[in-house]
This record gives sequence, C-alpha cells and structure tokens, in this order.
Amino acid sequence: MEPKFMLLMVALMTIATASADYVRPKPRKILDFPWESKHSSQPQQVHISLAGDQHMRVTWIADGKSSPSIVEYGTSPGKYNRIAQGESTSYDYLLYSSGKIHHTVIGPLEHNTVYFYRCGKQGPEFQLKTPPSEFPVTFTVAGDLGQTGWTKSTLDHIDLCTYDVHLLPGDLSYADYIQSRWDTFGELVQPLASARPWMVTEGNHEKENILILEDGFQSYNARWKMPYEESGSSSNLYYSFDVAGAHLIMLGSYTDYDEYSEQYSWLKADLLKVDRKRTPWLLVLFHVPWYNSNKAHRGEGDHMMQAMEPLLYAAGVDIVLAGHVHAYERSKRVYGGRSDSCGAVHVTVGDGGNREGLASKYINPQPEWSVFREASFGHAELKIVNSTHALWSWHRNDDDEPVRSDEVWITSLVSSGCLADKRPELRKILLAP
Ligand SMILES: [Fe+2]
Repeated sequence: MEPKFMLLMVALMTIATASADYVRPKPRKILDFPWESKHSSQPQQVHISLAGDQHMRVTWIADGKSSPSIVEYGTSPGKYNRIAQGESTSYDYLLYSSGKIHHTVIGPLEHNTVYFYRCGKQGPEFQLKTPPSEFPVTFTVAGDLGQTGWTKSTLDHIDLCTYDVHLLPGDLSYADYIQSRWDTFGELVQPLASARPWMVTEGNHEKENILILEDGFQSYNARWKMPYEESGSSSNLYYSFDVAGAHLIMLGSYTDYDEYSEQYSWLKADLLKVDRKRTPWLLVLFHVPWYNSNKAHRGEGDHMMQAMEPLLYAAGVDIVLAGHVHAYERSKRVYGGRSDSCGAVHVTVGDGGNREGLASKYINPQPEWSVFREASFGHAELKIVNSTHALWSWHRNDDDEPVRSDEVWITSLVSSGCLADKRPELRKILLAP
C-alpha cells in the first residue's frame, strides 16, 4: 500500500473511532441552592423584560411592608434621577405562600444605553442595557432550562456572548409543583436576567394545574409577567413585541389555538399590523415544535400546526423557534410538511440543560426538510445584521466548552417575492373572517 494512502486510511479510521467513542453527556444533578427558603425584605430574583416601546418591566420579589414597588434608575452608577412606581402581587399554592412579587415599568428609555437601577429603595444596584433601535441586534435562545449543572453551563456560555435580548421558548424552572424551585430558579438566572431582557413563553412545566377546574400557570403568570397588555393580548400566555427591526410573536402551545379561539383572533390581528418596512424580520416562538424528527414528543404540535401554520405562512414568518424536545434541530424553509422557499425556518432549541436529560433517538431516514439534528445541551444565537441577512448559530455544551456546531446565514423573506404584497391570495387568508 502506498504510504500516502496508508496515512489517509489511518486518519479516516481515527475520525471514525473518535465519533464512535463520543460519549454523550449524561444529565446533571439539580444545583444546590444555599439561598433556598430565604425570605427577605431585600430584592431577590430580579429580572427584566421589554414592556412596549422604549419601556422595560423590572420584576423582583421582596417580603415585608417596607418593600415598595419602586424602581430608582439613571445612567450613572448610584445616581438615580428617575423613579417609577409599580404594583405587587402574590399567590398561594397548596401550603406555599409566595413573597411579594413586584412589577414596575420604567421608561421611556434611550436605546442601546446602560442604566443603573435599584429595586424597592434598598439592596444592591443592578445594571441593564436596552436594545438598539436598529440593526444589528443579537438574540440568544435556550429553552427547557431547568436548574441543573448543565443549566449553569448553558447560562455561563450565554453570559460570554454579546447580546441584546434572551428568548426562552418555554419550560423555565422545572418547579413541577414545588414552588420553592421557582424561587431558586429566579435566583439562578438573576445575574443574566437582571441585565438583559428575558422574553419567555410557557411550556408544559409552567402549567402546574392541581384540579381540573384550575387553569394553571398561576406561578408563571404571577412571576413572569410579559407585555401582553402592551401588545393588545388579553392573556400573559401569548403576546408580541418589537426589537430593532424585528417583530416577535410569542404563542401558547397550551392554551386554545383553534380558529374560534381568542389566541387565533389575536394572532391574526397582530400579523395584520406588522409593517415589514419598519420590522422586516418576523419571528414566532412557542413551546411544542411543529417540525420534529426526534422520537420524543412526536406529533404533539400537529393540531396547533394545522390551525395556525397557514396564518404564519400567509404573513411570511421568517423563523419559528420552539423547545420541548431536549435536543437541537434546524429545518430548511418549510410549509405543509415539506420544503417551501416561502415557508419559515423552524428550529428546536429545547436543550438548555434540564434534569430530564437529552432526547437522543431520531426517526430515520432523516426527513428531507431536516437539515441538522443533534441531541446535546447548548444554546443558540441569532444575529440579525440588516433587513435581509441574519447569522444563526448553535453552540453545543461540549465538555463545558461552548462549541459552535451549526451555523447558517438566513436571508429574510422581505425581498423574496413571497410576501402578501406580491401574493394577494395570502392576504385573503389573513383577512378571512
Ligand atoms: Fe416541555
């Protein structure tokens, strides 16, 4: 055998052996929380979310009468020349009573600006940065987070990147009826969620309904108030918001979505309001994926897909992000179950690191619409560079190092000829009574 050919054979065998030997990481334990059950008048579990044009909602928990729903803020450390008054709520769940949950909206805020703030007129100073008014804008994405060693790894990696807004397509704390886990989750994410807006939608682990008559989502709605009122929705379970030149719609996989539902009517109205000249990118998030070739949760998104995919297609949605399946999968542009250059790119990013572990079995052959699939923990980043181009990347938590494993440039539909201004038959779907 030629020496060169032998070397090539050895190299190929080494690669083959390496991939065969690759041991997929096991689930990690739930983290220990020294602060568990700590009730204090000091602000805890601070997180922020976008709340309408140039406004931000600050949410925190503090017990005691001496904890007003007041946020003091300004652009210099320790100098708070502005003040906002909010409101507080609390809830009881079986034997658990929550602390006082404060929601205070601050603004109008300058774009792309660092603000220093303090909650309840006491405690430590926090720092946030508002998103830019125009491109480029960067989102991080990780669903199904939980609070394990892998969650910590994912959060550490998100913390390393430069981003404007974090997106979480459902399944936050994995409290699963044990309400103190909502508190530990709040503390775990505070370093990130107090600094950049966290925009979340609900998953099955947020439901926590104890009786058939209970609607569920009690803790989620009390703790993670999103800008539903600001976006004309009557429910915290679905809403929308703008960031720079992107319009994002957060839908609910576990609330009614058929054509007679409030969510459906609201979605249609919201899609009709989108002005692609102002927000050329259109993104949608929900928990249960519609395009999923993993063996886990097969078909669970089918009914919602049948009800709502025609609307998203008619409106020219660019990207759909989901969670639920604990793995990563990216599709081509798809519609109606097959590739379609006018459909959305669907990505499942349900790999934040929760205690249930990875969903590692896939159906074969890989469907033609599926481009990349892998069962590893990780997070994604979406950098929208301008009105036509965005860089999508997925970063695997490989031996605790963030490894860029999937990367693709996505071009928006605005210049594609796919939108309703070029295809009037699509507008009819949106305008149908
Ligand atoms: Fe889920």
